[in-house]
Amino acid sequence: MEETVSAVDVRLGARSYRVSIGSGLLASLGDFLKDTGLRGKCAVITDSTVGPIYGTVVCESLVRAGFLPVSLQVPAGEQSKSLSSAGELCERMIAAGLDRHAFVVALGGGVVGDLAGFVAAIYQRGVPYVQVPTTIVAQVDSAVGGKTGVNAAHGKNLIGAFHQPRLVLADVETLRTLPAREFNEGCAEIVKHAIIRDRALFDSLAKFDRLDSRALAGLIERNVAIKAAIVSADEHETTGERALLNFGHTVGHGIEAAAGYGRFLHGEAVSLGIVAASLLSMKKAGLSQTEHEAILARLRQFELPTRLASDVSTETILTALRADKKFDAGQVRFILTPRIGEAFVAKDVTLAEIRETVEA
Ligand code: NAD
Ligand code: GLY
Repeated sequence: MEETVSAVDVRLGARSYRVSIGSGLLASLGDFLKDTGLRGKCAVITDSTVGPIYGTVVCESLVRAGFLPVSLQVPAGEQSKSLSSAGELCERMIAAGLDRHAFVVALGGGVVGDLAGFVAAIYQRGVPYVQVPTTIVAQVDSAVGGKTGVNAAHGKNLIGAFHQPRLVLADVETLRTLPAREFNEGCAEIVKHAIIRDRALFDSLAKFDRLDSRALAGLIERNVAIKAAIVSADEHETTGERALLNFGHTVGHGIEAAAGYGRFLHGEAVSLGIVAASLLSMKKAGLSQTEHEAILARLRQFELPTRLASDVSTETILTALRADKKFDAGQVRFILTPRIGEAFVAKDVTLAEIRETVEA
């Protein structure tokens, strides 16, 4: 396999790290890790779909480079992003003799990345980890930025920690085995990045050819650069800049929780959330009807849902939304866009307005 690599740096002082992006990088993971200062034993945490496809190439690469990997699998799917899975993984790591000098490799999509990152954050009071993302969602979003965690019964990602990885290795060839539905859901996060930050990216998506590896790597790199810049400016989401990445997620998380984890893929729920945010942006931020329709067209291009099924109850969505981290002292921090390429945090969006939009 041809190996071409581009890099984006996430600049966070002593916690800075590099995201390497290219084709055919998995077999060189061990070599990439040599420069990180990591040594010895590691837990390769993956899921029951990704493990059988990529587990061997990753573990062989680690062994060739002198590491001692232990492979740990969880069932594929959002259900594994739970406190009980995290606890079980910690117990298995203790049983495998991994001490506080060990590290974690997260091999998989956003579920594995968030879960394994969280395990790394709490294991022996914190060990290093590296992200090897294998979905679009994970490569353009979840593997970068250090948000780790699991779901609670009351809502998404309510239990977690900030813990930055030491390195992220995004091999775009892994995206070739991603089923079409999972590929498309990831594009919701790309549309999100384009809407909040990059009009040219938004326009270029209309011509995107997923079979072109070079174009795919370029697209991932551009999205990682957007995410890295935002994370570098506001690591812990305190100034409002990182909150922009929640565009479409306020209602999206509510829909995921209300519909039951597993019915919608994360990106599908986010797509519906983007439609809600776009409708509210027309009402509250002056987004034009033409741009709203362009947003709908871009989501439909990736076969993403733009209408909510009538059996998902508005009340349940609003209940989940009240439990969300973005619901602050009775007010929702809602991200709006006045025009494609720009976004801001609005504090005057009411629950009544959200209810009206979801019902619409
Ligand atoms: P996922 O990890 O469940 O992956 C989707 C499916 O694709 C799974 O069945 C998985 O086994 C399979 N898969 C993964 N890679 C594959 C490959 N290369 N070939 C074949 N099959 C493959 O879901 P996801 O969409 O990647 O991530 C969603 C999760 O990410 C959600 O829990 C969401 O909350 C989280 N997330 C976190 C952040 C963050 O900043 N931490 C950002 C966005 C999303
Ligand atoms: N995915 C949102 C964030 O990383 O802040």
